[in-house]
Amino acid sequence: MSNSALHDTAVAKSPARDYDASLLQSYLTTRDTSLHLCAPLEIEDHSLQAMPDASPAKWHLAHTTWFFETFLLSQYGDQFQPFHPAFRNLFNSYYNAVGDRPLRAMRHILSRPSLDEVHAYRIYVDEAMVHLLTSDLPGEARQLIVLGINHEQQHQELIVTDVKNGLWANPMRQAYQFRAEPRKTPSAVSSLTWQNFPQDVYDVGFEGDGFAFDNEGPRHKVYANAFRLASRLITNGEYLEFMRDGGYGNPLLWLSDGWDCVRNNQWTAPLYWEQRDGEWWNYTMEGMQPLRLNEPLCHVSYYEADAFAHWAGGRLPTEFEWEIAARSCPVEGNLLESGALHPQPASGAEPLAQMFGDVWEWTASAYTPYPGFKPAAGAVGEYNGKFMCNQMVLRGGSCATPLSHIRATYRNFFPPHARWQFMGVRLANGD
Ligand SMILES: [Fe+2]
Repeated sequence: MSNSALHDTAVAKSPARDYDASLLQSYLTTRDTSLHLCAPLEIEDHSLQAMPDASPAKWHLAHTTWFFETFLLSQYGDQFQPFHPAFRNLFNSYYNAVGDRPLRAMRHILSRPSLDEVHAYRIYVDEAMVHLLTSDLPGEARQLIVLGINHEQQHQELIVTDVKNGLWANPMRQAYQFRAEPRKTPSAVSSLTWQNFPQDVYDVGFEGDGFAFDNEGPRHKVYANAFRLASRLITNGEYLEFMRDGGYGNPLLWLSDGWDCVRNNQWTAPLYWEQRDGEWWNYTMEGMQPLRLNEPLCHVSYYEADAFAHWAGGRLPTEFEWEIAARSCPVEGNLLESGALHPQPASGAEPLAQMFGDVWEWTASAYTPYPGFKPAAGAVGEYNGKFMCNQMVLRGGSCATPLSHIRATYRNFFPPHARWQFMGVRLANGD
């Protein structure tokens, strides 16, 4: 049964007349989107895990389902029976309070359950969830469903980036999707200008109605010196200048850990760049493409972002500078819904372009708790707080982030060596 048919049948039989129709719709749309993202994949592609940080698409499809089964249905479902008793551990990611789990780096060995069984698991849980969503729900269950929807949206971005990494690792460099018409790339990117922000005490962090992750609050005050933020993202062409100036070979530009990382991994270019007969090419979701100089730089680590900023005479913004600037920008841009799955050149004349979408922007801020931060009670308290060590904050979402998932206070985080997400650079300036 399709999710739309499931919706109609469940609503017709609904025992609760005042169920939250928009929450039900949001749940079903989110579940459909995950399947839609996997539609171009062959069965074999669903098991790809080309590096330990990535996970197979089949695992993402099962784990997002596990979240609803474990945190909602097992606690609030009426006489709910788990789909399979082994799945509680099999598809646990990192929740120690829930139990054991297979090694993350070994998720590719899970040839069983089959993809068909994982699809059946999704249908089983969706049917039970629709029944739950059309029942009288306690407020705490409603909040957990919203968390589960946002959790699945995070995994949708990971499906895109993990599939990209897996297809790229194969020497065939197969495309994930093809575009019917060639992409129109502006011949000239807008020139980089600077937006000024005065010194002040600013309120930052989430407050108000609507969903936010626990790590976005509490709202609190920060002092910022006067600063300037670049009007757009750094482009491939600008990064190529850094490379041609010997950027990867100049230790004076690099953090100590960054220099070690460059040498140990023999990095000479961003991830997915490849030189063929003297020309640079770039692996995209549409396969290998000649490097487009006007497109935003993507797939660089924090170390590379920092070294480039140093070379360019600027620095990376703090996460608070970014948020202070972003609060005046509409939440729109090249996000998952555009279907491009690739960052696009800045073309408009906005004072601050590309703040949302295209690439996550590395900030100079370590991922630490805000003053007064308290993780949620219970197992879901392991969601964010326990990762607040050895990671840097990224802001703004990417071309793989759903529109309804991103906001100015959103804090993404990755270790400084990570490159496989859609990660790029916006410069700041000022003391
Ligand atoms: Fe997860």
